[in-house]
Amino acid sequence: MSGKGETVSGIVGYVGKKDSLQLLFDGLTRLEYRGYDSSGIAFKNGSGIEVYKTPGSLKDLQKMLPTPLPIITIGIGHTRWATHGAPSTANAHPHTVKGVSVVHNGIIENYRELRTELEAAGHVFSSQTDTEVVPQLIARYLDRGLPIDEAIQHAVAHLRGAYALGIIHEGTPETLFAVCNNSPLVIGIGADAQYLASDVPALLPYTRNFIHLEDGHMAVLRSSGVDLKHVDSREPLPLEGKIVTNNWTPAMAEKQGYDHFMLKEIYEQPQGVMDTLREWLDDTNRLMDEMGISGTIRDLRRLHIAACGTSYHAGLVGRYMIEKFVHLPVAVDIASEFRDMSPIIPKGTVLITITQSGETADTLAAQRVAKENGARTLTICNVVGSTTTREADSVLYTRAGLEIGVVSTKAFTAQLAALSLLGIALGAKKGKISDLEIRTLKPFLLDLPGLIRQALQTDEKVREIAKTLAGAKSMLYVGRGINYPVALEGALKMKELAYIHADGYPAGEIKHGPIALIEEGVPVVFLATIDGLHERILSNIEDVRARGGRIIVVTDSPAAFRNKADDMIVVPATHPALVPFVTIVPLQLLAYHVAVIKGCNVDQPRNLSKSITVEDKCHNTGCSYSRFCRTSIACAAITPDEKKSIAHKVVRLLHLSNWEQMSAASLLESSGQELGKAVHQEQASKGLSTCFVSPY
Ligand code: AGP
Repeated sequence: MSGKGETVSGIVGYVGKKDSLQLLFDGLTRLEYRGYDSSGIAFKNGSGIEVYKTPGSLKDLQKMLPTPLPIITIGIGHTRWATHGAPSTANAHPHTVKGVSVVHNGIIENYRELRTELEAAGHVFSSQTDTEVVPQLIARYLDRGLPIDEAIQHAVAHLRGAYALGIIHEGTPETLFAVCNNSPLVIGIGADAQYLASDVPALLPYTRNFIHLEDGHMAVLRSSGVDLKHVDSREPLPLEGKIVTNNWTPAMAEKQGYDHFMLKEIYEQPQGVMDTLREWLDDTNRLMDEMGISGTIRDLRRLHIAACGTSYHAGLVGRYMIEKFVHLPVAVDIASEFRDMSPIIPKGTVLITITQSGETADTLAAQRVAKENGARTLTICNVVGSTTTREADSVLYTRAGLEIGVVSTKAFTAQLAALSLLGIALGAKKGKISDLEIRTLKPFLLDLPGLIRQALQTDEKVREIAKTLAGAKSMLYVGRGINYPVALEGALKMKELAYIHADGYPAGEIKHGPIALIEEGVPVVFLATIDGLHERILSNIEDVRARGGRIIVVTDSPAAFRNKADDMIVVPATHPALVPFVTIVPLQLLAYHVAVIKGCNVDQPRNLSKSITVEDKCHNTGCSYSRFCRTSIACAAITPDEKKSIAHKVVRLLHLSNWEQMSAASLLESSGQELGKAVHQEQASKGLSTCFVSPY
């Protein structure tokens, strides 16, 4: 999880005939899972703009709002996650300057330079945020006599980084402005009202028709409709083909009687798996055709999966399934590593990104790197119209429905369903899996929703075990083969939710080190479903028991592990390639119950956010461009040769950024020494120092 600040906040906006401020407030409440340390609202009240903002939760904001809540025709709102400026009233959004009020999600990377320039020109700032440079810039161009939309365009032209903006101007009646660059923003299309939000859930009660704004797009919203244009042009853009209908229901955004969204989403997994499978299971060939893969299947030589967090773990399970059904090598990488390591992408490679949100920056960057290096890209995603789906060559949607809990659960099993579909479809297309094998496998797949429901019946048993784990300082999760990624995912859940340091390991690996962590009472969860490997798990259990470890076994064959475990959680048996669908369920429940018992905030765990839309910064301090600057040796999108030529330039040009120098020198290791020496002497002759310690 990288990056904080205004990267993961929530924005809402409304322009329409007449409605209550409640609408904006409810929208923010549905977005609170994105960021929740301060919030604010601004709306027109006839003559001017009224602004209410406060640190603390939305409840604190509600207390400030006038009662009864005024009827408004236009307004914007924001719920924040802060780093640029601690949570405070001054730093909360909206930021208003000379009648221009702005809410922002993202990071404006060159805000320091802009602020220095504006302050030098006499602008007075009232916050420490990066965001405030936006209304200050717009006000500057309004002062120069430009109309508001052009003032916004001129202001945005100065910005570098990620920004989703909602803007109202007291001098422009009934018009709401939106700008999008590298940060998600959706417009909700209504009959006599238009809406704006960072995410679809905020607007589900009002409309099902959405436009996902693209990078570099600006929208002008009036109650009568929406105009779109590029932020650097006046030419209107057509709306045709941009409006997508989302079938999620508002109810999906409510807890429906569950204590937490996460628990509700764990119990929604049977439906998510069924909805994902039923779309293609009976016609996997059509899946290949629709994804445009049929035509290139002959040249398909290699599959490469890139993803983050839970989606990465789904990718690891996916490798087992796809290699089993397609007999093609599948590489799986953590997206942030993939994008930074200049991956080798031979011809005939398909890169599969897996992402619930479709907005995770590292996964997006990995997809762009692969595309730039000639790979075909396919994304498995849960959000219709999100950025990865718009940029990938092919899209396979998971149908898990809206996932609100920050910790991902139902998206994981829906991703496994999509990966098994993909494996079967590719295997059939490449003639690696016979019709008989597919006919044999189908009943197992169709049984999955029922089997997951059975696995959910372990809830009571798991809650009992959880009571005994709340005090644990560390835990190990262990599995073999296809259960190893499930062990990783179980450990991630316990970390994210209950803040217990937990690690997942292949069972065969624990004696190569992790077993040193075992002492009296240390809980070790073994995933031990009956397959050719369970004998070996038995000896691993003995190893841990011998050192006093506490054995918790998740199995589909209790008889095999009777008297071997302190606690046993029995899940239904299924096809060996599908066991993760059932073994993950008690692990999700275990982490959930331990977190509840410990009083942790289950739906909004500390330090986390639902979709990490922030970009890692280039190490090159001079680089403020948040996509691929192609100027820094650390830029992820350049080829090895480009890296070398930049390194040559850097070392000779005495670029003083530590990272750059060291990276360049190490890259040119073979000749770094000589160059380094030359640089050092040249620096010394100019009485200058270099960033790396001279070995001479
Ligand atoms: C999982 O519980 C976390 N929320 C996180 O690891 C998440 O899986 C990761 O950030 C990837 O998100 P994505 O699937 O939306 O790309």
